[in-house]
Amino acid sequence: MKVTVFSTKSYDREFLEAANGAMAPALRHELVFLESRLDRTTAALAADSDAVCAFVNDRLDRLTLERLAAGGIRAIALRCAGFNNIHLPTALALGLPVVRVPAYSPHAVAEHTVGLILTLNRRIHRAYNRVRESNFALEGLMGFDLHGETVGIVGTGRIGAIVARILHGFGMKLLGHDRYRNPDCEALGMEYVDLPTLWARSAIISLHCPLMPETHHLINADALAQMRDGVMLVNTSRGALVDTEAAIAALKSHKLGYLALDVYEQEERLFFENLSEQIVQDDIFQRLQTFPNVLITGHQAFFTRNALAAIAETTVTNLSQLERNIPCPNQLNLEGAIAA
Ligand code: NAI
Repeated sequence: MKVTVFSTKSYDREFLEAANGAMAPALRHELVFLESRLDRTTAALAADSDAVCAFVNDRLDRLTLERLAAGGIRAIALRCAGFNNIHLPTALALGLPVVRVPAYSPHAVAEHTVGLILTLNRRIHRAYNRVRESNFALEGLMGFDLHGETVGIVGTGRIGAIVARILHGFGMKLLGHDRYRNPDCEALGMEYVDLPTLWARSAIISLHCPLMPETHHLINADALAQMRDGVMLVNTSRGALVDTEAAIAALKSHKLGYLALDVYEQEERLFFENLSEQIVQDDIFQRLQTFPNVLITGHQAFFTRNALAAIAETTVTNLSQLERNIPCPNQLNLEGAIAA
């Protein structure tokens, strides 16, 4: 297949070329790498390809999909797990199969989540800067023991379950909320509770559910009001799970004691690019940056070499299966996903 790969960074190219090269010659694809994001204005760049390969901040809305289909695109390969950036009813109506990488390294995201918790709690990011300036004062760096505290995990699937296991190892009590109970989490002693109970009892709340209409702004002013004073909120899932303006208000009132984000509602305008020479125009994001108890990383939780290798291998295999009409286990059931 000829595949136009959008939003290409050097690391995407390196890992996709390696995975493609490792395939049997007959199964290899012709990969065309573009740095541009995929949206309605760039869809035409894929005109003579059979498929496009897209990432988290590419925008596959109705018009983009229509333009891709009109240009001859026959398949969409997402090199990520989430599919909130694609208009599924249009893909279904156009008969465009969508494949994705449902799991690559849940450990990568879970370990980054725990890294954020430890860094923010013990102010390691601030201590690093102080010590480099020979400031060895401890004021402002005090944390709390995780041991014995309660963490509430929303979404106890692959990533949430690993976060639970790691934090269980620290001696934390586990609360969970999900549509389905995960027996691995129950075996750790996780107590499944409704959201108001999880909000009220958790010292740390970590989000690991997908972004869907029902989870959009799951963390809003109402949810925040039900939380413990000084709670730590961690979001490594999808930005729009959190109403950022409500979070800022809660930071100002000290309801939120700590906020760690790897994802942000409007991240598509910022993340994955070096904007250090520009004036960032997003005032909400800039306000977040002013709080000493906010720690933000730019959607890097997945970013380990293990995960990139797994993403690339799964993506080229998905494309080969589509090309040969072999059932692909990673093809989205569009009707099911729309109904969910
Ligand atoms: P998963 O599908 O294994 O687990 C998601 C869990 O959320 C499932 O158990 C599901 O039942 C549950 N869920 C669905 N709706 C819910 C609701 N309304 N309330 C509570 N729970 C609900 O997915 P996985 O692999 O654990 O990934 C979780 C999320 O992490 C993804 O949706 C994705 O958005 C995000 N992610 C972030 C990355 C990053 O680099 N920051 C990388 C990969 C994934």
